[in-house]
Amino acid sequence: MARFIDELKRTHDNNALRVEHVEQEVVLFGWVSSYRDHGGCVFIDLRDREGITQLVFDPDLAGHGTAPRVAYERAQALRSEWVIGIRGNVKSRGGNANPKLATGAVEVHVVEIGIFNKSDTPPFEIVDKLDTGEEKRLQYRYLDLRRRPLQHAMRARHRLLQETRHYFDDKGFLEIETPTLVKYTPGGARNFLVPSRMHAGKFYALAESPQLFKQLFMVAGFERYFQIARCWRDEDLRLDRQPEFTQIDVEMSFVNQDDIFETIEGLVFRLWKAVLGVDLLEKYPSGSFPRMNFGESMGLYGNDKPDVRFELPHVDITGLVVDHAGGGVSFWAELAAAFASGRYRRDLPTEIVKALRIPAEKASSLSRAELDKLEEYVKGMGSKGLARAKIGGSGEWLQSPLAKMISTELRVAINEAAGAQEGDLLFFQFGKEAVVHTVMANLRVHLAKKFGFIPESGHGGRFEFLWVVNPPLFEYDDETKTWAAAHHAFTRPHDDCVELLETDPGKVLCWRYDLVLNGFEIGGGSIRLHDPEVQTRVFRALGIDDDDAKTKFGFLLEALRYGAPPHGGIAIGLDRLAMLLSGADSLRDVIAYPKTQKGICLMTEAPNAVSPKQLQELHVRTVD
Ligand code: AMO
Repeated sequence: MARFIDELKRTHDNNALRVEHVEQEVVLFGWVSSYRDHGGCVFIDLRDREGITQLVFDPDLAGHGTAPRVAYERAQALRSEWVIGIRGNVKSRGGNANPKLATGAVEVHVVEIGIFNKSDTPPFEIVDKLDTGEEKRLQYRYLDLRRRPLQHAMRARHRLLQETRHYFDDKGFLEIETPTLVKYTPGGARNFLVPSRMHAGKFYALAESPQLFKQLFMVAGFERYFQIARCWRDEDLRLDRQPEFTQIDVEMSFVNQDDIFETIEGLVFRLWKAVLGVDLLEKYPSGSFPRMNFGESMGLYGNDKPDVRFELPHVDITGLVVDHAGGGVSFWAELAAAFASGRYRRDLPTEIVKALRIPAEKASSLSRAELDKLEEYVKGMGSKGLARAKIGGSGEWLQSPLAKMISTELRVAINEAAGAQEGDLLFFQFGKEAVVHTVMANLRVHLAKKFGFIPESGHGGRFEFLWVVNPPLFEYDDETKTWAAAHHAFTRPHDDCVELLETDPGKVLCWRYDLVLNGFEIGGGSIRLHDPEVQTRVFRALGIDDDDAKTKFGFLLEALRYGAPPHGGIAIGLDRLAMLLSGADSLRDVIAYPKTQKGICLMTEAPNAVSPKQLQELHVRTVD
């Protein structure tokens, strides 16, 4: 029988020992974190997931016969990351205490050692701060996960999951799992497909969310459902997007938007308290987060997930440009003429003009070279350039290609709309609405980092939550010249907009909402359409006829006819929540085994090629 583990049970973890344990005999297990040999003694830092304890192998330790010398001799062979167990006595370090370690007041003088396993030399050190590239760390993820920052991240994630489950359980929600091998339905995010061995030429889709199933739970009468749900989406990846991610998925019956917000706010308050020890009530004494209309968010910030830790609002000057017929600026005149002739309509995505005002004290910090760099930055996003104007003492525009062209009236009007003062700088973007919004939204955040309004990464101790509400139900597809569902086709329009479904679809607002934190969308959902009559009208506006609807959403449509209660829900991106809460830069820092930007698992090398035989079984042939 093995001496350690079988006979000698672990008495403490490596973060437990303090001065009150002095003179106790203890048994510790762990990994060799560092090794020093001096003064005829071997010193080891022994690490486990809780912390580090210093071990001393002193061959002359009195009172234990020859055992300490045997242990000392065995200890000389130890190297980094070997796995050992020891028995020894706790001693005070006296004046040599290490204040940086929780166990720094004591050390353990070893009487007996067991070596469980050796270790190859690891490809990088298991330390908190590391220069090793991320690729190497992902390849040896199990070693990376041994490091303290990742151990903390996984613990925070564990806490998030447990608190979430307790919260919803306390509130009478049922956690019910939904299938992840599902039927492919068009629309929404792109699905991964799974070939069926038993049904040649047929495919399952991996669920991109439990959306339809959770709505069916409401039809089934469960009333309050939640699930920690794994979702798959075959999208282009970014720092805040993984192909496989986790949602806190929620659906409720007999509720309106306020009820859903209250439920989620309660959850977020609880999570912040439990994981970070932060009481959000200090910042949000009413217990709820502010709300902003989608339209206002697009206007002021160029997107529906604004970072409101800082101001720098956009100023939409399209109306002024149109009113002044371009004010002498040739490319603006074209745009104004398009509006005047009715070719552009304000309710359809067209071309717009936006300005961004940089206050004088920050504007003066931008060198010529930096301005040129900003121009390159916006060009990288598909912009043609970054027109600008510096405001002079009497409101004149300086250092600007527009200065010579623009009429005094339009210049004065723009200065006034932007609140521009002497020394301020105005940046302009004009062109396709979507491009202008993206460029200006990114420029706003880029400049905020440059000016130190927000840190380069992380939350900087500030959490600004925002509900973005009341978006339009439909989006105009400029290419096909048709209306498409902006979210999913089962989102409920505002009652007072229903009559516009046929006459002015672009103006129909809906009960769709996103929860935003520091410029990231951490959740989204909607009140659903459960009324077959309005639903038929929405489908009609989308150009979906009955047959189409049946093919696309058959089983849901049918279910909704059997007494569907009014219902609504939301899904919170758990990974994004964990990332923002912990101040991490990427989802990869809060997911145990993440994929790279290219969707590869560097540790297992997925995705990989499979044998021709497997493909044959699946009735799949690959093309080059
Ligand atoms: P939605 O598509 O908005 O809504 O997704 C909800 C939240 O999930 C997170 N998220 C992601 N996180 C990491 N990687 C991804 N690829 C990724 N995609 C989305 C975001 C997002 O806000 N069924 C609806 C919810 C509903 O209507 O109830 C849905 O899935 O934080």
